[in-house]
Amino acid sequence: MGEIVREPSINPPAPELPNDDLMHRIAGTADKTWFWKSGQISIDQFDLVLAHWERSLTDFPRALDFGCGCARIELHLEDAAKRMEIYGVDIDAAAIAWAAEHVPWAKFSVNRGLPPLEFPDEHFDLVFNHSVFTHLDEQYQDAWLVELERVTKPGGLLIVSVSGEYPFSLLEKEWIGCQRDPEPLREILRNRGILFISDDGMQNSPFPDFYHTAFHAPWYIFERWGSVFDIKAYVPRGDLNYQDLLLLRRRDQRVGAVAPLRKFSSEEGASREEISHLEMALRRAEQEKQTLKENFSAVLNSRSWRLTAPLRRFMQGIRGR
Ligand SMILES: C[S@@+](CC[C@H](N)C(=O)[O-])C[C@H]1O[C@@H](n2cnc3c(N)ncnc32)[C@H](O)[C@@H]1O
Repeated sequence: MGEIVREPSINPPAPELPNDDLMHRIAGTADKTWFWKSGQISIDQFDLVLAHWERSLTDFPRALDFGCGCARIELHLEDAAKRMEIYGVDIDAAAIAWAAEHVPWAKFSVNRGLPPLEFPDEHFDLVFNHSVFTHLDEQYQDAWLVELERVTKPGGLLIVSVSGEYPFSLLEKEWIGCQRDPEPLREILRNRGILFISDDGMQNSPFPDFYHTAFHAPWYIFERWGSVFDIKAYVPRGDLNYQDLLLLRRRDQRVGAVAPLRKFSSEEGASREEISHLEMALRRAEQEKQTLKENFSAVLNSRSWRLTAPLRRFMQGIRGR
């Protein structure tokens, strides 16, 4: 799912688009304008992050969109496909059937929830996706990171989005609006670096049981994902102004496993939990300061404070004598 700045509806100058149900599955909206325009915006934003590496999406001879849905991005790559091979895979057979019929310039296939993919080792120069790791738990994520490493060439690049601070802050607001305390969730995200919410209202969706909602803290990405890939860029809200966008590089030697989180040694000072508690204490102190400030200014602006001002001046005068 993603957020872009919405402009007044246009009649999309697009080829035939998927039906409402297919669009809704990948975007949570069946807005045709959003679907069409966001595909090109995603490509432009991938190009922006690739510019860190002086490349562009269409420079790669063979690219894979992992979790391509109903080809929101590939619809815009007809010209590019004259110069490169484009593949898309997804677990959603209906989305893939639509893509295969309507986007003949790319090759589409259905994969299972867990690896392997059908491709040989080191097949792709580039793997990209929007909002797939945002729906997988840690076990699935680890399995797919290792599989995507397998199918990417040494030195190849990957563009992946994750739900970072911004989507999480929106969730917090939603919870507060429903009189629920989001602090326990924030604490998990802070301490574990990853938060997977299976009770997310997707239980009756067309997606399989494993498909829910995941959030990441940047330190987790750098530490755990960084054990498999070189992390070349981390762009907060770089993906449709909503998710964070990562540029990863496949190492020359295959790693083959995601390393567990490192334990902090005592020489490094405070443990991660201790740091989190300190951060939390600081946040609370900041909130209390703000509340005090607000209460104080409410008192200063109150009618009774203003009416009793002469009395206070009189009392100060007496004390001063
Ligand atoms: C939010 S949608 C995004 C779709 C597409 N990337 C886009 O930007 O339009 C998430 C997609 O990930 C797919 N997906 C989830 N788990 C997957 C898995 N294990 N392997 C492949 N695709 C998966 C879903 O079927 C869905 O199409």
